[in-house]
Amino acid sequence: MSLSAARHPSAELCSALAGLFETAHEGIYLGTLPYHGEGATLGANPHLKLMFGFPPEVDDHEVRPFDEERFVDPQARRGFVERLLRDGAVTDFLLRLRRIDDKPIWVEVNAHLAAPGHGEPARIGALLRDVSERRKVEDQGRGQYHELMQYEKLAALGQTVSGVAHELNNPLATILTWSERLAGRSLDALAGRGISIILGESERAAKIVRNLLTFSRKHHTTRGMVDLNQLVRETLSLRAYDQRVSNINTMDALATGLPQVFADAHQLKQVLLNLLINAEQAMLSTSGRGTLILRSWHEAADDCVVLEINDDGPGIPDDVRPRIFDPFFTTKSAETGTGLGLTVAGRIVEDHGGQLRMESTPGHGASFFVRLPAGTGRARPKPSSVAPVRPVVGRGAAVLLVENEPALAEAVSDALTDAGFLVDRAADGRTALERAGSRTYDLVVCDLKMPRLDGQAFHRAVADTIPGLSRRIVFVTSGVVAADTEAFLEESGCPWLRKPYRLADLLRVAREVSSGRFTAS
Ligand SMILES: Nc1ncnc2c1ncn2[C@@H]1O[C@H](COP(=O)(O)OP(=O)(O)OP(=O)(O)O)[C@@H](O)[C@H]1O
Ligand SMILES: [Mg+2]
Repeated sequence: MSLSAARHPSAELCSALAGLFETAHEGIYLGTLPYHGEGATLGANPHLKLMFGFPPEVDDHEVRPFDEERFVDPQARRGFVERLLRDGAVTDFLLRLRRIDDKPIWVEVNAHLAAPGHGEPARIGALLRDVSERRKVEDQGRGQYHELMQYEKLAALGQTVSGVAHELNNPLATILTWSERLAGRSLDALAGRGISIILGESERAAKIVRNLLTFSRKHHTTRGMVDLNQLVRETLSLRAYDQRVSNINTMDALATGLPQVFADAHQLKQVLLNLLINAEQAMLSTSGRGTLILRSWHEAADDCVVLEINDDGPGIPDDVRPRIFDPFFTTKSAETGTGLGLTVAGRIVEDHGGQLRMESTPGHGASFFVRLPAGTGRARPKPSSVAPVRPVVGRGAAVLLVENEPALAEAVSDALTDAGFLVDRAADGRTALERAGSRTYDLVVCDLKMPRLDGQAFHRAVADTIPGLSRRIVFVTSGVVAADTEAFLEESGCPWLRKPYRLADLLRVAREVSSGRFTAS
């Protein structure tokens, strides 16, 4: 609408315009626009009053949306006025203005400045639209976009990390095997100290690698119905010896009839181990003894299973509390802590749709709560992926070692020879198959990932041609084990070790399998 006097509207048009002015769902303002100070209002429609929080009966003259005090940013007002004076109009100009209750709103303005007569203030006609809601949605969209970007960056980082961790496995397995082997020799004091430091540090590096792999292990999990109480007992039995020799008393109050949870048993075991070891370390750090209480129960309200791990250690100080789940945050010495335990535990529990929470009164211990949604159905939990190993002795057995990393192959082959095995080597699956066909072996130690014929294909071929040997294979995996690989390992009934494994574990399994004492669970 032009405010210029060039057109003389008819009485009919005037009355139609007045109706529009009253009923429009946009703010309409007619008035003057001083460079500074207050303007004079000619008319402000009801919707404009509503937008700025004025009562409907307020006098139009009170409503002056372009006064300095209405602007959140004075600089923005100067820009707006200058633009109007320069161009005579603005289109969809976005301003942040204040309502009379001081609440800021985003307003989109279309305005036209009438050329003032000589000495008169500029006259403005403006349509104002409150676009605060639209801005909010746009901001949210932008927030989500940034979150997504962040997530993608993290996902890419996760892939890199998992690749790097994967690559580190072979050299680490080699270092561990060599140092464990040398540690068993009689060495002078300096060499002995050096070897024990190398062993300790490479174990630490192996632990970081394991944690990083779990951290980036997103899609490769094998879930099934898991009895949480059973899992707690199994995990406790892994700690039983250490707890006994360090005066830690464990009590459990595990609810009977607990519903099973749909979970990856191996991952949950890792969560429990991390929490148990944290509690043990905390208790031992202050009193050299401790009492650990494990409770489980079912919360019917949200159909969740909760496990509490309570210790009577020093608790967690207020300033430490917000950071305990951060990656690499630790209060422990470099030899003891990497600061990944709780990060990994939290991630795993969240991946299972649950929460890991902590309560602590400094000086009075800490409780960690693992809350998991109860699974439906009552299927038996799957046996854990690493079969239990009984210590046995058995020497002189013929072993075929299939490993394509020369340094690791040499270290393991020497260690097996040391332990009394007769070792043959093959660097790929096809060569291994030829060897296996040409003589009798008591045992095959075989990397799953190999050039020419991988571990799975090798197993199939052996099962077809030398069936007796197919149950005498120990598989070695590196990095993340995909769900289908894990299924294959379980089906094969063969034991398997994750790189970097401990030499002692390999020897135990090798002796069991070669002496025919290994039974898959
Ligand atoms: N039960 C507990 N009592 C007291 N402090 C705890 C307890 N559990 C965890 N913390 C604190 O949280 C920190 C982080 O724990 P987290 O398990 O992530 O790493 P860490 O134990 O230091 O190292 P890592 O688990 O990698 O060996 C610990 O260093 C410790 O300060
Ligand atoms: Mg820890």
